[in-house]
Formats: sequence, C-alpha cells, structure tokens
Amino acid sequence: ASRERLLVVANRLPVSAVRRGVDSWHLEISVGGLVSALLGVKEFETRWIGWAGVNVPDEIGQRALIKALAEKRCIPVFLDEEIVHQYYNGYCNNILWPLFHYLGLPQEDRLATTRSFQSQFDAYKKANQMFAEVVKEHYVEGDVVWCHDYHLMFLPKCLKERNRKMKVGWFLHTPFPSSEIHRTLPSRLELLRSVLAADLVGFHTYDYARHFVSACTRILGLEGTPEGVEDQGRLTRVAAFPIGIDSDRFIRALELPQVQDHMKELKERFAGRKVMLGVDRLDMIKGIPQKILAFEKFLEENPNWRDKVVLLQIAVPTRTDVPEYQKLTSQVHEIVGRINGRFGTLTAVPIHHLDRSLDFHALCALYAVTDVALVTSLRDGMNLVSYEFVACQASKKGVLILSEFAGAAQSLGAGAILVNPWNVTEVASSIGYALNMPADEREKRHHHNFVHVTTHTSQEWAATFVSELNDTIVEAQLRT
Ligand code: UDP
Ligand code: G6P
Repeated sequence: ASRERLLVVANRLPVSAVRRGVDSWHLEISVGGLVSALLGVKEFETRWIGWAGVNVPDEIGQRALIKALAEKRCIPVFLDEEIVHQYYNGYCNNILWPLFHYLGLPQEDRLATTRSFQSQFDAYKKANQMFAEVVKEHYVEGDVVWCHDYHLMFLPKCLKERNRKMKVGWFLHTPFPSSEIHRTLPSRLELLRSVLAADLVGFHTYDYARHFVSACTRILGLEGTPEGVEDQGRLTRVAAFPIGIDSDRFIRALELPQVQDHMKELKERFAGRKVMLGVDRLDMIKGIPQKILAFEKFLEENPNWRDKVVLLQIAVPTRTDVPEYQKLTSQVHEIVGRINGRFGTLTAVPIHHLDRSLDFHALCALYAVTDVALVTSLRDGMNLVSYEFVACQASKKGVLILSEFAGAAQSLGAGAILVNPWNVTEVASSIGYALNMPADEREKRHHHNFVHVTTHTSQEWAATFVSELNDTIVEAQLRT
C-alpha cells in the first residue's frame, strides 16, 4: 500500500537557505526541537511547507530556491522583509513567544509593543494566509495537513474556510499558558477561534491541553468536555501527545569512527576534569544566566572542585533581529567573562561558552562524554536536548539536572534531578550532588530515562497524532 500523504506546515523548514550566487543556494539543517523531531518521522509520504529563513526578492532566486528545496521535499513560502519584521520578529517572537512562556514583555518595550500590536497582528494574519495559499496549491484530496506551532494559529481557519473537508491538525510545540495569561492578548478571541477550526489540536503535556480548554471555556464561553471543546454540536478534539526523538539515530551515531575519534579528543582535552554541558538556543526561556550563576555559586562554595570541573555551554544564536535576544547575548557574555576572570587560571577557564551551533556528530560526541547535563529552562514546551543527552549516555550513565518547568520534567522526572532554575542555591547544591553521585544511583536513574527515551520516539508521536486525527474525522462523520 502507498504511504499516507502528509503535508507538514511550519514556519521553519528543516533546511534554511543561504544564497551563494544569483541562482545558487546552500542549504543548512535548521536548529530547533520542531525540526529535529519531525525529521525523525519516516512513516509518511511527507512534504514540508514553510519559510526558508531568507528574503528572496527576485524571481530568478525564487525559481532556483524552489528547485533546490524540491530535492528535500520542501516547498517554500516567500515572505518579504516587512512581513518577516512584523510577523516573525514582532508578533511571533516578541509577543506570543514570551507570553506563552510566562515571561511578559520587558518594561521599556511594553508601550511600544502595545502601540504596534495591531499592525503586527495584521501581518501575522496576512502571513498565515500566504501559508494557506501554498497549501492550497499543493494539496491533494485525502492529504493530512498538519500545522505546527504558534506561528500558524490562524492557519486552521484559513484552510477550513476554503475546504471544509480538508483533514487539519494543529500542534503547539511551546507551553500553552494559563487562561489568565492568554486573556491579556488583544487578539485572544480570534486566535482561539481559528485554532478551533482544526479537527485535532495537540499539546506536549496534559497541563497545556487543559489550559487551552479552559481558555476556550472562560474566554469564548464554549463547553469543555473530556474529549475537547464543543461549539454548537461541533467538536474540536484536544489532547496531549508528548513528543520524542529518533533515539536510534543517536545511538547508531555513537558507533561511527568519526564520532568515536571526536569523543577520544574530548576526553583527552578534559582529562582529570568532570564535564558539565548545556546545549540551548540562546533564548530567554532557557535560563542560561541562571544556570551560569548557579555554577558560579557552586565554584564559590566548593574551592576543591575549581580545577576539577568545566562547564561547556553551546549557545546557538537565534532570532538575532529581535532586540531582547541581542540584549541576552551581551548579558551572558558579561557574566561568563566575569566568572572566567574570577576563577580562571593561566591554563584553564571554568566555562567554555560557544556562540555557535555544532553539527550532529560533534553534538553526539559531546553528549556522550558529558558527566552532568544542565537544562535550566524557565519554561520549555518539552526540551529535546534532555532526551538526546539520555540517548547518548548508555555507557557513561551521567546525570541530568532538569528544570521542573520543562515539559520533559513530566517524563524524565524520575531519573533526573529536578530543580527550580530561579533558585540558584538549589541548583548549585544539585550540581554538587550530581558530581558526587555514586555509580549505582546514576545507573538506576539513567536506566529509567533511557527506557522512556527509547520507547517514546518521534516516529511514534507522529503516528499517534495522525491516527487520532483520522479517527476524529471518522467519528465526526458518524455523528452528522
Ligand atoms: N541542536 C542542533 N545543533 C546545535 C544545538 C542544538 O541541531 O548546535 C538541536 C538539538 O539537537 C535539539 C534542538 O536543537 O534537537 C533543540 O531542541 P529543544 O527541544 O531542546 O529546544 P528548542 O530549540 O526547540 O527550544
Ligand atoms: C522552537 C519553536 C520552533 C522553532 C524553533 C527555532 O523550537 O517551537 O517553532 O522553529 O524554536 O526557532 P526559529 O525562530 O529559528 O524557527
């Protein structure tokens, strides 16, 4: 039988384009949990629709890019600079992202954001319409259309207005906040209503799904049921589908000679020291300053550890046109510089901070040689870095320190040391606990998480979502 066709619609394509000439393009793998997880899905005949991360004003460039992307089964949505500014930098990343992660807007930006709100929301709707146009061009009857994330909350409505029969699912990769937070959004009604146009709405955790349903009941006055949200007899199914990773891909990579070589190099480089690791996009939600301050406190209180431990922080640049992200970069650099100045010696520094991404093999090697991984997100939809670390630790059985505010705390909580990242004292003492943990406790904790990570994969996540979507549609047909 031929595989079911799946149109994945997400703002970010799995590859981002860099222009090399008038009609030549270089494609790089995009960074982020959404892309990593969806790349692990192989059961469907998948096509991606999304933005290639670049402005292409000319037709020659557009045609060449369409061709280059087609080889990766990707279809671009071309967004001009003004739309990107208002929709992506503005509405998505300066308003929705901080709000959904309970961060609020920075004091000095509040009024400016309030003023520009309407034009940014208009651009958001316009951008969503543009995605809908491209879906329409490539849709074949029977396709499952799976919309992703906070960039595309308006899309389910745009799609269903054109074609009521289209199978439409929407999945949120971030937390959905308490209805008290969602209530403050001027566009609160429109966003909820358009998401509800989908047949199935999915979240990483039960809590996020519950928050969404109560936003619909309190703000829209609709009826919430255990199945979802009902509006005049029509049901939108709402449920939790915790995402996972392609764990085999990581486990297999560790066997490759180049990864083994890399591991050997790292072990030699840091011989005699325990390795602590952070891997994050350089984002406010990741709690990077909090993590580094906790590490400083640990060094302050444990002089005997100062030349025996090193923190490697991979901080991947992200959303660099948004002012908040620029501020965070300089703030983190300032703190790292201060601590290295304070505790460094002529031959070694306690923190290696890298403003860059690593390729897949380098990342696997790093995960495998790490003694303690530190995930200190202030909020995080799931956090796949924690899963990837666990997948790579079959021989080392290192310790995961994990924020209780990451979705992953609900699945890896029993094996990880859970912390409140705002409590620097608690994180510092957890670092000490992790570094001193006896082997049998490490093994027990690792085993717990390893079983979870290898049995709850991205493949299974996608299959469950799509089959639930198909079931939902069949049930709806039976009801009418
Ligand atoms: N990642 C990557 N290259 C890097 C650092 C990270 O490809 O140099 C990937 C990492 O493997 C993970 C993803 O980026 O799959 C981050 O996902 P996560 O869910 O932890 O956070 P997000 O970035 O989506 O907020
Ligand atoms: C998070 C979001 C994704 C996004 C990724 C990277 O994982 O949930 O939708 O793709 O961050 O951010 P970017 O803005 O570069 O796409």
